[in-house]
Amino acid sequence: MRHFLTVIDHSPEVLRHLLDEARRLKAEIARGQFAETYKNKIVGLVFEKPSLRTRVSFEAGVAQLGGTSLFQAGGEVGLGVRESLADFARTMSQFVNVIILRVFKHTTVVGVAEASKVPVVNGLSDTSHPCQAMADLQTMEECFGDLKGRTLTFIGDGNNVARSLAVACGKLGVKFILSCPPGYGFPADFAERYRKSVGGQLPPEIRDPAEAVRNTDVIYTDVWTSMGQEAEREQRLREFAAYQVNGALLKKAPKHAKVLHCLPAHRDEEITNDVIEGPASVVFQQAGNRMHAQKAILEWLLG
Ligand code: CP
Ligand code: NVA
Repeated sequence: MRHFLTVIDHSPEVLRHLLDEARRLKAEIARGQFAETYKNKIVGLVFEKPSLRTRVSFEAGVAQLGGTSLFQAGGEVGLGVRESLADFARTMSQFVNVIILRVFKHTTVVGVAEASKVPVVNGLSDTSHPCQAMADLQTMEECFGDLKGRTLTFIGDGNNVARSLAVACGKLGVKFILSCPPGYGFPADFAERYRKSVGGQLPPEIRDPAEAVRNTDVIYTDVWTSMGQEAEREQRLREFAAYQVNGALLKKAPKHAKVLHCLPAHRDEEITNDVIEGPASVVFQQAGNRMHAQKAILEWLLG
């Protein structure tokens, strides 16, 4: 049975297939065509954290595929609290055809997948946001055509979004650069998983953002404080201050460079309002692609 928990688990061929399907599904919708792959299928979403894009793009995508979605807030279900992950999975997987989770601890999606009789999708955990990475690469491909040989520079925290993107880039021939303050790079356990899955060393860390964007095609950023890290917010605001994506930084990049952000953005923290609203920004095209990328994942899960 297939799951979609991390990008690390999947081969370049699978990622390539998902991007091709996402493009095809997007074009179909633009022509007003709806493939009912999920007719009579039910998708269950359990989210421990807030969401706009992930929840709505999955629910809308499932509806377009002819299926039904059921949403429950994590507190209601109490994954691993009200009952064990295995008990949840064994019960839930008799009612729905796919389980989509957004969780604090990545071990929660792994624990559910282990006992589930149906595919499980990670809609964001503390270490991974694989659905986001697929929409990001789809957006890059729309902007530049072939991905191979392109460079993406992530300015900010080596967080869930950065890690999934680094792996996806590594598998599809995109050079990934991380520019972050000391101590906010990729952790050692991730380095080991990256080495096994992608091969080679971790992508380079370049301390100076201006140097990091000098030859890049994409500047990417995300919030400095992720959901679950709120207690560190003040410290992070101080430590990331030099890592803002602003007009001065954009000037250091090639003229053709595009700006991506997974959203939600904290305007005038990690990215300035003029940059996110400016001509280099493709953040809403990127947000829209979430639905197409995830419909491709849903179809692939059914085999
Ligand atoms: N980018 C993203 O996952 O957005 P949401 O948190 O709104 O789902
Ligand atoms: N890194 C952010 C991404 C939100 C979509 C978080 O985990 O909160």
